[in-house]
Formats: sequence, C-alpha cells, structure tokens
Amino acid sequence: GAAVEVDIAGIKPGEKITVEWRGKPVWILRRTPEQIAALPKLDAQLADPKSERKRGEMTPEYALNEGRSIKPEFFVAVGICTHLGCSPSDKLSAGPQASVPDDWQGGFLCPCHGSTFDLAGRVFKNKPAPDNLEVPPHMYLSDSKLLIG
Ligand code: FES
Repeated sequence: GAAVEVDIAGIKPGEKITVEWRGKPVWILRRTPEQIAALPKLDAQLADPKSERKRGEMTPEYALNEGRSIKPEFFVAVGICTHLGCSPSDKLSAGPQASVPDDWQGGFLCPCHGSTFDLAGRVFKNKPAPDNLEVPPHMYLSDSKLLIG
C-alpha cells in the first residue's frame, strides 16, 4: 500500500491523532516530558520492556529504545491489539475501576479482554495480548512531516 504523509505540527503535547494506513488505524501520540520520563520506571511491570520478541517485525530496528520511537516525543503505533485485533482506547488516568497500576501515567486499554499498554505501546505482564503494539515503518521528512509506510 501507499505510504501516508502526515502533518504533525498541530499535535499538542499529550494529544493523539489517528490516521489510516493500509486500512489500519495508526496513532501518532505526542508525549509530554513527564510521560517520557515515566517510561523507564514501568519496565519491571511489562511483558517485553525492550521489545525483544519479534524484533524487526513488531518494532523496527530504529525504534528499539525505551520510547519505541525515532524521536522520544512522538510515538507512532498501529492501534490494533496484538491479542485478537480490537482497538485499544486511550486510558489516560487510573480510576477506582481501572484495571491498571496505581501509578498509571496514561496508556491504552483494550476493551475486549483487558490488555493494558503503556505510552510506548508496551504490554503489561499477565495480559492476554502476547506482544507490544506494532510500530509501523516510518520516517521524518522534516520536523513537521512524518511518512508512514
Ligand atoms: Fe485486546 Fe483481547 S483483543 S485483549
């Protein structure tokens, strides 16, 4: 399928947009400095914190880092759960009913069987989803233009 060019200049810190690529929803999240700083603290709670499983398939080589991204600020991921393909929703805060850790800094929650993901799309331990969310191939054409595919 054709690559998709996205203007990311208007995305505010903490905001996420969704574009379509190859018929799939692709998220572009602009993380705040606080959200970036919180990522390493979650490693012990994650199933595959370094994205070592399916290396190069779910995570391109250039995104094999803590934020699973080229630039720490921007996280690009396919918004489809790696369990059975539902689309996780934004889970920005932990409420009394939320099945997420108490120190939750935001992430994603799959409504189908309760898998939770952090703001780098890394799945938490003991959840049905076997893998972190897929990071699609992407590159920056300029500071404000992202190419997906
Ligand atoms: Fe997401 Fe099952 S499809 S947890």
